[in-house]
Amino acid sequence: MAQVDLTDVTEVSTEPGTLPETMSAWVIRQEREGEPIDAFQLEEIEVPRPGAFEVIVRVMAAGVNFNNVWAALGQPVSVFRSHPDEDHHIGGSDASGIVWACGEGVTKWQPGDEVVIHCNQASYEDVEVHGLDPLAAPSQQIWGYETSWGSFAQFTKVQAQQLIRKPDNLTWEEAASYGLTYFTAYRMLIDQCKLQAGHKVLIWGAAGGLGVFATQLCAGAGAKAVGVVSSTEKAQLVEQLGATGTIDRNEYRGMMRRGGESAEEEKARFKESRRFSKAVAEILGGPPDIVFEHVGQATFPTSVLTVKPFGKVVICGATSGFNLDFDVRYLWMRQKQIIGSHFANAWEATKANELIEQGLIRPVLWRTMGFEGVAEAHQLMRENKHLGKISILVGAEAEGLGRGVEGPGAIRAEVGG
Ligand SMILES: NC(=O)c1ccc[n+]([C@@H]2O[C@H](COP(=O)([O-])OP(=O)(O)OC[C@H]3O[C@@H](n4cnc5c(N)ncnc54)[C@H](OP(=O)(O)O)[C@@H]3O)[C@@H](O)[C@H]2O)c1
Repeated sequence: MAQVDLTDVTEVSTEPGTLPETMSAWVIRQEREGEPIDAFQLEEIEVPRPGAFEVIVRVMAAGVNFNNVWAALGQPVSVFRSHPDEDHHIGGSDASGIVWACGEGVTKWQPGDEVVIHCNQASYEDVEVHGLDPLAAPSQQIWGYETSWGSFAQFTKVQAQQLIRKPDNLTWEEAASYGLTYFTAYRMLIDQCKLQAGHKVLIWGAAGGLGVFATQLCAGAGAKAVGVVSSTEKAQLVEQLGATGTIDRNEYRGMMRRGGESAEEEKARFKESRRFSKAVAEILGGPPDIVFEHVGQATFPTSVLTVKPFGKVVICGATSGFNLDFDVRYLWMRQKQIIGSHFANAWEATKANELIEQGLIRPVLWRTMGFEGVAEAHQLMRENKHLGKISILVGAEAEGLGRGVEGPGAIRAEVGG
């Protein structure tokens, strides 16, 4: 395996329009799946070529997401099952960058264009793409998770429909930081739950990648939100983002579902969930219309209990475990709904991006790291030591570059870690 010289990562030997032969990339291979710090390794690898309707983007900065913690771990399933034709996994589902080469059929974008990338891919030939939703297509995949050629490399390969104009008021690292989690939160709240002014919302993990955007969307829409956090620093951030109040989950440890509890333990847990529901209702002035879920097993029974009758629990993930169980009587008797949601389509991503261009929603950056930091960043995320988002500089030589016009930029979450 060729040695990778990290001093060269910010340089490429060709001009837009021409691709070099090789590039530096952080690569996961099946035989080393495990803790992120070991699973990710630097390799020199061939630069992919664009097929029809595909684009090669030079990555200026990449965003870190929980999905490549799962990819590193090989859990709940190995990513190599999603792309069996490639023996490498280059992760990374967020990026800002410069269009470097366009495949046949691409007319909207030219080499030199500055872009951000949304992470949904689907085949143009699937009928669901043309009238239903690309998320319903059998070919649907998350780029940089279920595909290789993600953004933790000097170049990435994407479908042309994934490109969105880079907000000119953001630096490279700010622009790379928000797409996956913000667009997911946008679909969950705006499209799936029809968020309205006056709604009351409970947001789990409100200082995390999804939560910082869910909180801002609620504030922007005139909805009241209570954010769950696990430290005072996180509570301060969430209040700064416009939450009505916060709850520290350490004060309600007993409500977390662990699985395999005895009847007595179940009873005690239920009592704690009720105490939590009461605290939520006190802050919001009533039970929530919407519960924003992604924690899964530990919190789901409390979510179903806490949401108001006819309310919605919208869920897109399960950090604490995938097997959810809850007392279903609280669902049917009170006619509550559970809504599954997964990322966003290109239309939603574009509409959400306009709010970033207007400075109405802002990226929340905790840390920007150099290209050498990819494995470490995922390990920090696995250990829940971060707030908001982490960005990785790839082509950008330093922080603060790439901004064309003045704007509010990102909110800096300086504390924690
Ligand atoms: N389907 C999709 O399209 C999609 C998109 C994005 C993310 N996801 C999934 O959603 C999950 C969250 O993503 P993210 O980017 O927001 O991750 P993140 O940045 O790690 O934030 C998640 C937050 O959840 C809280 N949390 C973690 N473990 C918890 C537990 N056991 N009990 C209660 N709270 C807990 C933590 O906040 P506190 O410690 O402050 O409580 C953490 O900050 C991940 O599993 C991810 O894979 C899915």
